[in-house]
Amino acid sequence: MNSTNNTTTAPVITIDGPTASGKGTITRLLAGRLGWRLLDSGALYRLVALAAERRGITLDDLASLEPLAAHLDVEFVAGEPDEEMAIVLEGEDVTSDIRTETCGNGASRVAALPVVRAALLERQRAFAQPPGLVADGRDMGTVVFPRAAVKIFLTASAEERARRRYNQLKDKGLGVTMRSLLAEIAERDTRDQQRSVSPLAPAEDAVMLDSSDLSIDEVVEHIWTLCQVRLY
Ligand code: CDP
Repeated sequence: MNSTNNTTTAPVITIDGPTASGKGTITRLLAGRLGWRLLDSGALYRLVALAAERRGITLDDLASLEPLAAHLDVEFVAGEPDEEMAIVLEGEDVTSDIRTETCGNGASRVAALPVVRAALLERQRAFAQPPGLVADGRDMGTVVFPRAAVKIFLTASAEERARRRYNQLKDKGLGVTMRSLLAEIAERDTRDQQRSVSPLAPAEDAVMLDSSDLSIDEVVEHIWTLCQVRLY
């Protein structure tokens, strides 16, 4: 696997970090401000988990998971910058279905499988099209876009991340408790950091940004300033 042969010259900004660190919102706002495309790579893993569950494919059935990930019939439909993208799986809008904690946990499990990661690699790279791409995930700066012009590693304390996720899920009417969320976040962090392929870790040339005490606007502003220096 050659991880450096990006086929286009489109500039890429990568935003990696642990669960609920705010990557999704920051990526969407930044992409909107730049007028660039965005890649929500976590959604791809969530979609594989959802599609596997719907087809009754178990996570040890690698022979079925690999083609499932490689040929997943999915469409990302961009909305306004302040709106979430619609995600369509095999013609069905699954935007909310993939956001449940169950699907997130399933995603974290399928994401630990090398065959699934390999099957999704080129698919992710194909998002890098002019005028540019903002890509959010765990291994955007390390594996998928190692030559990205700007790499951010966004963190926040586990408590702050649980609080943000709690509010996010509550707004969507999904019932959860802070206690269960903290436990799930700890479990997800451990699995993402300890897996053998593409573990969650900052790229050597990533800028570390702790957002625990920053507002969303402050984070976007910080990255925006960095982009002005690195991109132009
Ligand atoms: O929203 P949250 O950060 O919890 O999750 P997500 O970004 O939607 O990703 C769901 C799961 O997919 C994560 O827990 C990771 O295990 C996995 N993932 C990954 O392994 N690599 C990526 N580039 C993106 C997500």
